[in-house]
Amino acid sequence: MELRKYILREDEIPRQWYNILADVNLNPTLGPDGHPVSPDQLAPVFPMNLIEQEASTERWIDIPDDVLSVLNIWRPAPLVRAIALEKALDTPARIYYKNESVSPPGSHKPNTAVAQAYYNKAFGIKRITTETGAGQWGSALSFACAQYGVECKVYMVRVSFDQKPYRKFMMSTWGGNCIPSPSNETKAGRAALEKDPDTPGSLGMAISEAIEEAVADETGSTRYSLGSVLNHVLLHQTIIGLEAKKQMALAGDYPDIIIGCAGGGSNFAGLAFPFVQDKIHGKQIEIYPVEPAGCPTLTKAPFVYDHGDTARYTPLLPMHSLGHAFVPPAFHSGGLRYHGMAPLVSQLVDEGLLEPKAVKQNQVFKAGVLLAQTEGIIPAPETNHALATVIDEALKAKEEGKEKVILFNWSGHGLLDLTAYDSYLTGQIKDIVLSMEEVAECEKVYADFPKPQHLKHK
Ligand SMILES: Cc1ncc(COP(=O)(O)O)c(C=O)c1O
Repeated sequence: MELRKYILREDEIPRQWYNILADVNLNPTLGPDGHPVSPDQLAPVFPMNLIEQEASTERWIDIPDDVLSVLNIWRPAPLVRAIALEKALDTPARIYYKNESVSPPGSHKPNTAVAQAYYNKAFGIKRITTETGAGQWGSALSFACAQYGVECKVYMVRVSFDQKPYRKFMMSTWGGNCIPSPSNETKAGRAALEKDPDTPGSLGMAISEAIEEAVADETGSTRYSLGSVLNHVLLHQTIIGLEAKKQMALAGDYPDIIIGCAGGGSNFAGLAFPFVQDKIHGKQIEIYPVEPAGCPTLTKAPFVYDHGDTARYTPLLPMHSLGHAFVPPAFHSGGLRYHGMAPLVSQLVDEGLLEPKAVKQNQVFKAGVLLAQTEGIIPAPETNHALATVIDEALKAKEEGKEKVILFNWSGHGLLDLTAYDSYLTGQIKDIVLSMEEVAECEKVYADFPKPQHLKHK
């Protein structure tokens, strides 16, 4: 009998996160004066313990016991051999996935939400504000805040708020307060509504609203939390790849190809970074972040300095960016509708250690339906981007007659995204591709900003 699942015992959970900043050089984040931001400048937005983690170059960082005890609700997550998919594709490839859909909110997002809620609580913070795209992050933070007795306010991108009403109910059940963005509650929201009352919203806009509200609290007991992009978020997600390494060893395999979908870059980085460390030390691995062709940050946009949000409240981050003013088309993968990308992922793409890919929406949902019908779990639309590329690579292995080992991240389930599947099954999904001319138009917003340097890893 071929084994399907590789399971670690609860006490085999990794006790440290892997910090890739020990091995990779990164351009600094710049403040409004063009100089690197100081911790003090970030203090109104994030608690100091997370600001310190953001800049740390320590290779291994201990996971606090109080974080591990909450992660143990669902972790270690299973590593699964996708035997039914392999059979359906008749491929010689061996395909494995990390099943991050088993967490209470249904995705990888609580890996960092739990850590962030813990560090905020430890710093004396009573209330956290945030944004959410598809609702996975807002649910994850609501869940995490409930674990530590912290209040949670979530600005949810309007198009997703309308498409996925059950996400709000989920957040409310955990005690979170979710409202659509742009809203009338902030200056940034009111400005966006004035410009376009029917705007679908964007992650960049929702981030502006959440930061504005956190900074405006004069009691100093509110902070903002970001669900992706930043170094400390990617750090917390490395538990995925660290578990996967142990589980691949149990399976007696090592990946030739690693694949994850990339919105802000956190689930991809969480799986890939512990293997990037091996690649830096000489291992041959192909590593693919996958994004939508309608929001092609890594595949079409340049590596620049840009703001992380629409209202330009954030410092300048060195990243691939479609421009902070870019409002992505209203397709169903809300978590991938972000104009920028994690600086660490952008840096590794710039160095050539990662090879990004872009896929179209119909191909994405076709892959999701095949996976649902073979492996059983209905994937989140975001995850389907990774799946489309997994299928491409497995079919390529078949053509070449090669026994490739493919590892990918099943970043979430799609049980609250069923309207998206209905749209696909009734032929209503459009293949949106952003052209190079459209990208060139977006680039104007950062034309005058400083340019990052092309760096090499340590
Ligand atoms: C299920 C799922 N996968 C992927 C993503 C993309 O985010 P990231 O690139 O930070 O992993 C999201 C974001 O909301 C998500 O909900």
